[in-house]
Amino acid sequence: MSAPLLEVRGLSKHFSVRRRAGWTRKVHPLRAVDDVSFTLDAGETLGLVGESGCGKSTLGRTVLGLLAPTAGEVLFEGEHLTEGDPRLRRTAQIVFQDPYTSLPPKMRVGRIIAEPLLIHDLVPRADVTERVASLLRDVGLKREHASALPHQLSGGQRQRVGIARALAVEPKLIVADEAVSALDVSVQAQILNLLKDLQEQRGIALLFISHDLGVVRYMSHRIAVMYLGRIVELGPAVDLVEQPLHPYTRGLLAAVPRIDARRSAVRIESEPPNPVDPPEGCRFHPRCPIAQSRCSHDPPQLLDWLPGREAACHFALDGPDAPAPVAGDRLHPPGAAS
Ligand SMILES: Nc1ncnc2c1ncn2[C@@H]1O[C@H](COP(=O)(O)OP(=O)(O)OP(=O)(O)O)[C@@H](O)[C@H]1O
Ligand SMILES: [Mg+2]
Repeated sequence: MSAPLLEVRGLSKHFSVRRRAGWTRKVHPLRAVDDVSFTLDAGETLGLVGESGCGKSTLGRTVLGLLAPTAGEVLFEGEHLTEGDPRLRRTAQIVFQDPYTSLPPKMRVGRIIAEPLLIHDLVPRADVTERVASLLRDVGLKREHASALPHQLSGGQRQRVGIARALAVEPKLIVADEAVSALDVSVQAQILNLLKDLQEQRGIALLFISHDLGVVRYMSHRIAVMYLGRIVELGPAVDLVEQPLHPYTRGLLAAVPRIDARRSAVRIESEPPNPVDPPEGCRFHPRCPIAQSRCSHDPPQLLDWLPGREAACHFALDGPDAPAPVAGDRLHPPGAAS
């Protein structure tokens, strides 16, 4: 079996934050990403979903080498790529949330898209204009847009420019971080379809980050659900949405009315705890509708409960929508029959 395009092993990214303690201020670690592992195959879309502050952007940036990891490793085609590795820029690109601030305001669109071509010497200078025109066409814009300044374009058009810029280096991996969150709903669908078509036509692997599980389901082959710096569930998109294993996933689903019309899932109230001092045991237990005493002291590991389906919950197969394991299908606990 060939190595996955991207392999993330035990990745952590901690920040230091100062907090008041009596008269003094103490430095505390904030575990924005804490021991995260997953793989991504060439041409696959992995959705990354979770509430604000759970660590999605930090994970995306650490994977791309834009932030140095505190621990763990990122392998690209089986090799370590360290911060600043020039291969990383060619192989992995990021499309940001905010098309208003992520494009240089005084640079014309043609120049914005041409720059990566020139920096990496990807096409002869004489061919740059034509290449830019063809990239503009690929993202549904016109050749004439090359002479526009970002502020002369709509939000959707700007995000198309951001995508064309990412495509210019012919990346194998794109990280799209809330790529449509700042756009109107009608424009969101167009940009999602553009990203999906490009991903399929070019076999690009996509790490698609969003807090919206409905959007993530539409885009992804597999979904990873994050909670307070950790992946709590990972599995094929359809299975994860139809038969979630983790109570937090069920809670996220309950917040998506268009998915959840037929389900009587429990809504998860309140805000997530501060990641500076996460709860003992299972980090989700104070908000969990099915928590038991074990959950307050025994942190669940992310385990394969069924083929291809991982969850970090002691009671992953006990939920109301959980799949009934076929004999021999249940992988965890080893040999357990239900
Ligand atoms: N540079 C930083 N210094 C200190 N703390 C940070 C830094 N960047 C992020 N954090 C903290 O790390 C945690 C994860 O942040 P991150 O931006 O990765 O979350 P997110 O899931 O992308 O959220 P959102 O959905 O709002 O974009 C948060 O508690 C955030 O406050
Ligand atoms: Mg973010």
